[in-house]
Amino acid sequence: MSEKINIPRGTFDILPGESSKWQKLLNIFCETANLYSYQEIVTPIFESAHLFERGVGEVTDIIEKEMYRFTDRKGREFALRPEGTAPIVRSFIENHLGKEYAPAKLYYFGPMFRYDRPQKGRYRQFHQYGVELIGSNNPYTDAEVIALADHFLKQIGIKNYTLEINSIGCDKCSPVYDAALIEYYSKHKDELCGDCVKRLEKNPKRLLDCKNEKCQLIGKEAPSILDYLDEDCAAAFEKVKYYLNLLKVDYIVNPRIIRGLDYYSNTAFEFLTTSLGSQNALLGGGRYNGLVKQLGGVDTPAVGFAGGVERLLAVAEAEGISLVDSGNSGIYVANIGAETIDYALALCAEFRSKGISVEYEIDKNNFKSQLKSANRLNIPYVCIVGSEEMEGQRFTLKEMNSGKQVTLNRSDIGEKFNNWPKLSVFEAEQTC
Ligand code: HAM
Repeated sequence: MSEKINIPRGTFDILPGESSKWQKLLNIFCETANLYSYQEIVTPIFESAHLFERGVGEVTDIIEKEMYRFTDRKGREFALRPEGTAPIVRSFIENHLGKEYAPAKLYYFGPMFRYDRPQKGRYRQFHQYGVELIGSNNPYTDAEVIALADHFLKQIGIKNYTLEINSIGCDKCSPVYDAALIEYYSKHKDELCGDCVKRLEKNPKRLLDCKNEKCQLIGKEAPSILDYLDEDCAAAFEKVKYYLNLLKVDYIVNPRIIRGLDYYSNTAFEFLTTSLGSQNALLGGGRYNGLVKQLGGVDTPAVGFAGGVERLLAVAEAEGISLVDSGNSGIYVANIGAETIDYALALCAEFRSKGISVEYEIDKNNFKSQLKSANRLNIPYVCIVGSEEMEGQRFTLKEMNSGKQVTLNRSDIGEKFNNWPKLSVFEAEQTC
């Protein structure tokens, strides 16, 4: 026997029992995004590595430690996308979407890749759903994007989450705050972890969300960004809060929400859950007014968010939310005797042409085992065909729950099954 090949660490298969939950979640996300008039955008899974270096920032965990890089046969440097915002901005610029849509309201869903130590809620291939609104600096749009995220979580039925918001200022006030942080943390330099010593020089705000206990303790007394916002940024943040109140979205202000990617300015937010362990960030986002220009486009403000599907499904499960559709309305076709197989197959095709989901197991040629299978698969209706039915061009339909049975003409499929499963065949016909 050849050696077995296993799935790469930190990745997983979405198996048949699970995939229907993914479909449901994606459907709810698309429906919610449509309610807010967002349109889907799909970008490639790999992009130029420079896109992320320039977009996400060189001194970030994603670029320093987590990005999957490869060179193709011609020596070009690519990366499996670690996130969706930089690729969407690339596409926005390349396809001149700003000319057609003002603003562009885009949503997306797909796999992302980050090389990190896998644990519950953290994978090397994971999936994000997200939105990007590119082309408005109106604080209402920050609130709208947040409201969309909140709406989506509510549609799924998630209860145990909080929304934390902050403003990290603009390119004028943010450096002033950085200087204050450098001054504060320099006094504690000897006590900081190695990563934070590096961050102190290159990216001081990131010290605030270091997971190291000692760094966190020191961070408690660190200056707050809210005391450093300039007039415009402070006013914009007030407006975001005003609109969140108007849209009835609950939030708390947390001046420590910094976000791990460099492109953010002004509003930053995270939805955190108490239903998971340490990987408690359900989704995160914020405003990124400098990114379009940084990636070679015309200066264009933007805001967006992304959330992890795996974490959302785990929270849904922890909160006892069922994402499985209970409304299975399919038909299992069971036949008695080999001579009726072709007739059964023809009926299957006719049901399917009516949009009805049909199961027929061609290799199961025993009627009893077919019925058992229908039960096991939880299929609510069984269509039974024996030679008598075949000769009369009829079939028997059985409702498994009630045990009601009715014999119908094959030609009935044409009209009586138009409204399946809300059809009245069991009431209208003589049942036996
Ligand atoms: P992010 O915070 O890096 O932001 O990721 C967003 C969400 O993706 C996280 O809150 C988490 O739910 C999920 N996630 C991240 N890494 C992993 C992982 N290794 N395993 C499982 N889930 C994970 C962004 O990616 C930004 N692009 C969001 C954004 C959009 N900002 C503006 N627009």
